[in-house]
Amino acid sequence: MWEYTDKVREFFLNPKNIGEVEHPDAVGDFGSIVCGDALRLSLKIDKETNKIIDAKFQTFGCASAIASSSALTELVKGRTLDEALQITNQDIAEFLGGLPKEKMHCSVMGREALEAAIANYKGIPIPVEEEGRLICKCFDVTEEKIRKVAIENHLTTVDEITDFTKAGGGCGECRTDIEAILRDIWSVKAPEQPAKPKKLTNLRKIALIQEIIEREIRPGLQADGGDIELIDIDGNKVVIALRGMCTGCVMSGVTINGVQEKLRELVSEDIVIEAQ
Ligand code: FES
Repeated sequence: MWEYTDKVREFFLNPKNIGEVEHPDAVGDFGSIVCGDALRLSLKIDKETNKIIDAKFQTFGCASAIASSSALTELVKGRTLDEALQITNQDIAEFLGGLPKEKMHCSVMGREALEAAIANYKGIPIPVEEEGRLICKCFDVTEEKIRKVAIENHLTTVDEITDFTKAGGGCGECRTDIEAILRDIWSVKAPEQPAKPKKLTNLRKIALIQEIIEREIRPGLQADGGDIELIDIDGNKVVIALRGMCTGCVMSGVTINGVQEKLRELVSEDIVIEAQ
């Protein structure tokens, strides 16, 4: 059973922008029903401003695929093509308040369909990685795609590649090749990890916790009608209270875990959250 955020559930149960825009200016297809997930993105584009004025999707896939595709359409509307191309699969996942790591391939599928649609509009060949050396025959994944996704998302293990692309998640025959590709990438360039101070003074730790809550956590909760209040910090114990729509929400346990994970990632690994 996957743990979904409220926003994933909302975008799965009540997806926005289903279907195909009338007389689309661009259509991007990605995936295949044989491989389990497929997405068609259609766009209406203002030719004078190059702005995406409408976007719709049709998808075959799981709850995360539907939510990611719907989120993508919301993210691209109102943006110029150049701005839309800046959207990463991480942006799609973040818009949804996160995806289970095993479902990150759904956000990648959205990003790829967007690239395909814009290439279709510009009349240029669809992204070159689709033409590269085929590594995973079960899921039709090329070496170029594995390299691109690994670098963009700082992936270092075969399991992470499987989470983001499905490659390696079938018969497993390609896992050795994927491992070799990862070794090749990261022996040349070490993956960039988010900066995390090694040792913090108490004052710096308190300031950093406040900053991360304000910058990384509160906006996502407020977007869903919820909020968070920092009550106290005592050593590694951070006392919080969920407010607004988060109060009494059935997913509040997931939210609290997410807050703890984020603070452990960006402040200190020994942080423990206590919710009031
Ligand atoms: S070839 Fe990649 S899992 Fe089968």
